[in-house]
Amino acid sequence: MESNDLYLVYHGLFLPKLAHSENSLNYFEKFVVQDDDVFIVSYPKSGTTWMQEIIPLLLNGGDLTPVQTIPNWDRVPWLEETRAAVVMDKLSSPRAIVSHMPYHLMPSTFFSSKAKVVYIARNPKDVVVSSFHFHRMASFLDDPGTFEEFINKFQTGQVLFGKWTDHMKSWKNPDLGDRILYITYEELVQDLRGGIKRILCFLGRKLSEDALDRVTEHCQFKNMKHNKMSNYSLVPQEIMDSNKSSFLRKGIAGDWKNHFSPELEAKFIATINEEMKGSGIRFSWDEE
Ligand code: A3P
Repeated sequence: MESNDLYLVYHGLFLPKLAHSENSLNYFEKFVVQDDDVFIVSYPKSGTTWMQEIIPLLLNGGDLTPVQTIPNWDRVPWLEETRAAVVMDKLSSPRAIVSHMPYHLMPSTFFSSKAKVVYIARNPKDVVVSSFHFHRMASFLDDPGTFEEFINKFQTGQVLFGKWTDHMKSWKNPDLGDRILYITYEELVQDLRGGIKRILCFLGRKLSEDALDRVTEHCQFKNMKHNKMSNYSLVPQEIMDSNKSSFLRKGIAGDWKNHFSPELEAKFIATINEEMKGSGIRFSWDEE
């Protein structure tokens, strides 16, 4: 497998060496998916951590104990990362598992299973902004350069897990049928309780109104920001420097307006539209 100082190159995708290895990718490929597994799939910086908070609560009847006592990366492990092999046996069924991989690279047992997928998508303009600040604070990622330079890397796929457009298109696969729920970050920002109810229904679960209120309150940005099991404050400063930027940074839709010039935005959108042409995928932010 090709690599440089910071990244492994896996099927053309950059994966940070801090959390990925040949062994972890081997484990990923050979993983035996169970029918009741629930996958959270996302392109990085689209709301993964938020889902790692929400989904376990919906699967366990709203008990806050795990989200208050287990770090998110062990509570809902990334299947392709090194921690997966360490913690997978400790998860109780139904297991909640995260992946940033594109659809076609999923382990072969995923395709023959009935495992469900919650796919969270976010406006790519906010994804690139969030990713830019993440690159500034994470020592295991390359220096982002200027925002304009970083946009160029993002749009040519020279960032974690490749191009945003490829990820979107890969997971919009008709073979998934009703095994997949598509939800957007923006929908959750606008109506968290409603979004959580939609996920609950997809998972075939129920919560009392009180439990739903409690889960919704717990998963608000202002509260999650203080949960040390989810805000990455357990990670040493030399790996994630919160003086440069917080992991749970702003938690809003539309921060791109503070970063893009009109020219940069027009160019960015033209590229996205060109690459999404013919995919049949439309999002609420396309109407902006
Ligand atoms: P910002 O950098 O725009 O604040 P991921 O978990 O996929 O890496 O995504 C991180 C982004 O999700 C960050 O965006 C983070 O603040 C945001 N996020 C995490 N939890 C959130 C919550 N409860 N409400 C709103 N945004 C949240």
